Amino acid sequence: MPKQPESDYPVSFDLNFVTGQVTCSGEKIQRRASDMQSAFYDRQALQEAILGGDPLIYEFYNNKFITSTSDMSIAITRLFPGKIGDEYYMTKGHLHERNDQPEMYICVQGSGYLLLDTLDGEFRAEAWQPGTITHIPAIWAHRVANTGSDVLVYIGIFHAAAGHNYALVEEKGFAQVVVEREGKACLLPHP
Ligand code: F6R
Ligand code: ZN
Repeated sequence: MPKQPESDYPVSFDLNFVTGQVTCSGEKIQRRASDMQSAFYDRQALQEAILGGDPLIYEFYNNKFITSTSDMSIAITRLFPGKIGDEYYMTKGHLHERNDQPEMYICVQGSGYLLLDTLDGEFRAEAWQPGTITHIPAIWAHRVANTGSDVLVYIGIFHAAAGHNYALVEEKGFAQVVVEREGKACLLPHP
């Protein structure tokens, strides 16, 4: 489908690095426990969380800057603190549909892990704190887990054409989970 030019003029907006609130008018997406049926490993704890109020796990603001020749996008995610069972709140995670579309992630607030999985035998976990910047090559599925007690805020910069494949992550899953053991966050093989 041909790309519709929207604006060839510069655009600015403000991001509050502490709260993750933005002044832009892009779409806002919220994901609750009930939106993440196949993400958390402890299905019973997930059902209890859903019945107990269906908590908001994270929200993100998507902003596309479509010009006559380009399609930059920026998304600001606010991932809240908490756990489902002993597994820390995390994003659903996805793979980009196009295998030539990487992404830059920038952690601006909070702490946790960026989980990266090729869904084909390779797994990495990058420890995150404010200021950590990670380049995600196109073939790596990506998911973020918040292991802190505050909101975790990060920026993702990518091309709108990248596309998002959630189904493959749901089918294959990430190799490891981020869980609490004796009061500490640790990575374990997926049960
Ligand atoms: C875009 C990207 C992020 C995520 C956002 C929510 O390619 O990686 O903007 O879309 O952090 O995570 P998901 O999409 O996994 O629900
Ligand atoms: Zn992505």
